[in-house]
Amino acid sequence: MFIVFEGIDGSGKGTQARMLADYLIRQGRKVVLTEEPTKDLFTGYFLRMLLRSKDVPDPKTVALMFAADRNEHVKKVIEPALRAGEIVISERYYWSSIVYQTLQGLDEEYILQLNAEFPKPDVTILIDVPEDVALQRIVARAHGNDGLVQNFERQEFLRRVRERYSELAVQHGFVVVDGRKGPTAVHKQVVSALRAYGL
Ligand code: TYD
Repeated sequence: MFIVFEGIDGSGKGTQARMLADYLIRQGRKVVLTEEPTKDLFTGYFLRMLLRSKDVPDPKTVALMFAADRNEHVKKVIEPALRAGEIVISERYYWSSIVYQTLQGLDEEYILQLNAEFPKPDVTILIDVPEDVALQRIVARAHGNDGLVQNFERQEFLRRVRERYSELAVQHGFVVVDGRKGPTAVHKQVVSALRAYGL
């Protein structure tokens, strides 16, 4: 079973992915908790360096690098675990490329082509929070030293990301969970939504 968490930055998807993994492990399931960009593969390391570099890379380079990292992720982590009958939980997957790389100006068709061969998740959970809530969390996490203007731009970007996720959720049948409440309340919603998938 392949489960993906998606959501805007500050939505709490990482916390929810971890809570679900812990819950399933307590139930005696074998779980692999993973994420994109990858943490332990060379492609992920390279990608994070690229994203941090001052010389802003061309959007196509970024899309190709995310796809390259995803290819390693699929071949080295996701597929072996699925073959072994384990539950894979990934924080972000190709939906992130569809959302973020098209917002960087690339055609959706191009992104779909790059990602066409990767396995489709059995269930994608979208942790949905309004952009102002997400931004408050991001700023709190960063100890509140962002400028006001920067935050305004950031909120507008988050709004567009959230909008694209909501469209994908309808098109592809995501489980949409209201992420505004505390971690435990959101986790309960995730668990009850997953009952429909036999978990
Ligand atoms: P990360 O530092 O992991 O942020 P977060 O904790 O919010 O997930 O970096 C992920 C960033 O990369 C995030 O802003 C979304 C972006 N991203 C893409 O643009 N395309 C992709 O395919 C993926 C997986 C992530």
